[in-house]
Amino acid sequence: MIPIPGCDVTMPVMGLGTWAWGDRSTWGMDGYDPSYGFDTIRGAYARAIAAGVTLLDTAEMYGNGESERIIGRLLREDTANRDRVVVATKFMPFPWRVPLARALMKSLRASLERLGLPFVHLYQIHGPISFRPARAVAAALAAPYRAGLVKAVGVSNYSEGEMRAIHGALAAEGIPLATNQVEYSLLRTMPETSGLLRACRDLDVTLLAYSPLAMGRLTGKYGVANPPPGKRNFSAFPMAEIEPVVAELRRIGAAHGGKSPAQVALNWVMCKGAVPIPGAKNAAQAEQNAGALGWALVADEVTALDRVAKFGQRGLFNRVWQHG
Ligand SMILES: NC(=O)c1ccc[n+]([C@@H]2O[C@H](COP(=O)([O-])OP(=O)(O)OC[C@H]3O[C@@H](n4cnc5c(N)ncnc54)[C@H](OP(=O)(O)O)[C@@H]3O)[C@@H](O)[C@H]2O)c1
Repeated sequence: MIPIPGCDVTMPVMGLGTWAWGDRSTWGMDGYDPSYGFDTIRGAYARAIAAGVTLLDTAEMYGNGESERIIGRLLREDTANRDRVVVATKFMPFPWRVPLARALMKSLRASLERLGLPFVHLYQIHGPISFRPARAVAAALAAPYRAGLVKAVGVSNYSEGEMRAIHGALAAEGIPLATNQVEYSLLRTMPETSGLLRACRDLDVTLLAYSPLAMGRLTGKYGVANPPPGKRNFSAFPMAEIEPVVAELRRIGAAHGGKSPAQVALNWVMCKGAVPIPGAKNAAQAEQNAGALGWALVADEVTALDRVAKFGQRGLFNRVWQHG
């Protein structure tokens, strides 16, 4: 478990991403994926929690609030475990959401309502798109932190420079920056090569790695003949370019008693000191991903994977191109 700075809560070394929960256009719920629905989500949740994967990452944007609603329903049902679950959600600071502090508080209250919770453990700024100075963003986060509505605060899609600025602004408010959530996988090593990961270590900020399976592309189930369905924009390289990476994941997984490509890809992220938050739509996926825990690649295997890894594509919110 990893302490979350700013509160007495700890998080596991791997979490569960819930963007797909309630999402139609990208992930096909009530759409292109007929095998996927609330019952399979319940299975994913139960298997993850049983394996100790108790960090759930969501956002007000996911499924237009549906992901938070689904988590609320699952937590209401799961009286035995709900106190162990660490919930992280996000505020999207669109420039037109003014005044920022009031807009953030209103959004947070709506998220809490959907989640059915009195507070969230981690509240993240979804991207550096507010066009407000870091001190204004820090002040907006400080109010719910002081009111106990959020136990810790984080950011997402922030470059090293943006992260250092918000870290300093929050420090002036007496609040630690707990996390920076960015796209980090074998198909996007940019957070490492840009220096962001090192800066996170220096500042005691945990890097949460989103799309650590490159939106399913690193699981080995997709290929040139069957590319992933839906509009999956992150790490959208042609499958022919991804196949050598998956082949290396398979080779290394075989040396570990048959670990799957997904398990090796997630283990690689953890070996780098980041916390992956892979999405799962059903129990089998959650169970397989939990199999990334409890063992570690050796240094030569990490190096072999580094050799086939890709620098990556520009991030959604990346205005300066070099961010992590
Ligand atoms: N902060 C941000 O801007 C941001 C952006 C993106 C994501 N995120 C967060 O990061 C989380 C994870 O990223 P992601 O969901 O984009 O992508 P991901 O974790 O790389 O991939 C998840 C998808 O891969 C497939 N999958 C997962 N495990 C599998 C397994 N063991 N075997 C076979 N298929 C498997 C599933 O989709 P299929 O079965 O349909 O292939 C699943 O929905 C999100 O849920 C969200 O919480 C944050």
